Amino acid sequence: ALERTLSIIKPDAVAKNVIGQIYARFEQAGLKVIAAKMKQLSRKEAEGFYAVHKDRPFFGALVEFMISGPVMIQVLQGESAIAKNRELMGATNPKDAAPGTIRADFADSIDANAVHGSDAAETARVEIAYFFAETEVSPR
Ligand code: CMP
Repeated sequence: ALERTLSIIKPDAVAKNVIGQIYARFEQAGLKVIAAKMKQLSRKEAEGFYAVHKDRPFFGALVEFMISGPVMIQVLQGESAIAKNRELMGATNPKDAAPGTIRADFADSIDANAVHGSDAAETARVEIAYFFAETEVSPR
């Protein structure tokens, strides 16, 4: 089915100046960028976005990392966009990420892991709405 998913290029990958290289991978896989914004997240925004992880031991470090510099946030649209984006990203821990995936090529650690992508349809809806108004998402 035609799906939408939320993607975040994290502060490590923005600092490495590889936004374009990551966008090229989305495009080559048939995913369209239908909304995008660069943003310095506030602590509250980062905590709210990752609220499902608030009781995990890595929550504090995750929030600190996500506010350490600007992030690039986009909505990707395409056939099976959620799974396709997760395939492109590779495993959460770059040590486990398959060769040729975004995390294998650009990530340094499980925290500085270059990208985030929604894990399911309902999560995608919630995550897209967290960062974008309906009017900011192109219908293309
Ligand atoms: P992300 O897909 O953005 O969702 C939560 C993030 O927490 C994850 O990527 C990792 O960057 C980070 N994280 C740090 N430690 C862990 C862990 N042990 N398990 C899962 N995620 C972790």
